[in-house]
Amino acid sequence: VKVTKAEIITSAVKPEQYPNTGLPEIALAGRSNVGKSSFINKVLNRKNLARTSSTPGKTRTLNFFNINDRLLFVDVPGYGFAKVGKGERAAWGKMIELYMQTREELRGVVLLVDIRHKPTGDDQQMYDYLKHFEIPVLVVATKADKVPKSKIQKHVKQVKETLEVEPEDKVILFSAETAQGKEEVWKELYRLIEK
Ligand code: GTP
Ligand code: MG
Repeated sequence: VKVTKAEIITSAVKPEQYPNTGLPEIALAGRSNVGKSSFINKVLNRKNLARTSSTPGKTRTLNFFNINDRLLFVDVPGYGFAKVGKGERAAWGKMIELYMQTREELRGVVLLVDIRHKPTGDDQQMYDYLKHFEIPVLVVATKADKVPKSKIQKHVKQVKETLEVEPEDKVILFSAETAQGKEEVWKELYRLIEK
């Protein structure tokens, strides 16, 4: 897939601020620091379009990116960030729920998990939440460059078993370091937006 256009159109915290392009949207979900913004940059071949950081909690708003005038990526703040206070966590929850439950343009969610670790309770909740609201989900196990090849399948199995990934849902191995999995991701994204 050739990305000829990739630009941020807006940041939003509430529905009145969502863009009205009418284009199908794919949102990114996952723990803080798992690599959502890095995923966006790699998939789009852009160095620092979505701001990344080794400090968790970098993304604070819903950030909408126009891709080739064909779809929008929505970068979402991560969950499970310990330093966030109660009030802020509740606000985060509201922002995400409102978006996920009301957004007609939403075609699917890429749920990123860290291939190195067993998915957390938050990851399980997010997966169940998406299933419950019948939002199509693509599980992407990222940071694959951090696990030796001989151990990869064991880790994939752990992700599938912990999340209880349903047979119809794929788990794609990905690395924002090496671009592993990029073409497969695009194939699945097109399947979602063309449905
Ligand atoms: P929040 O915005 O805080 O929710 O984080 P995020 O999920 O957007 O994570 P971000 O993309 O900012 O990446 C967090 C850290 O992980 C950065 O230091 C990245 O360089 C690193 N990282 C992300 N993806 C990969 C990957 O595939 N491999 C390796 N080795 N590092 C990665
Ligand atoms: Mg981010």
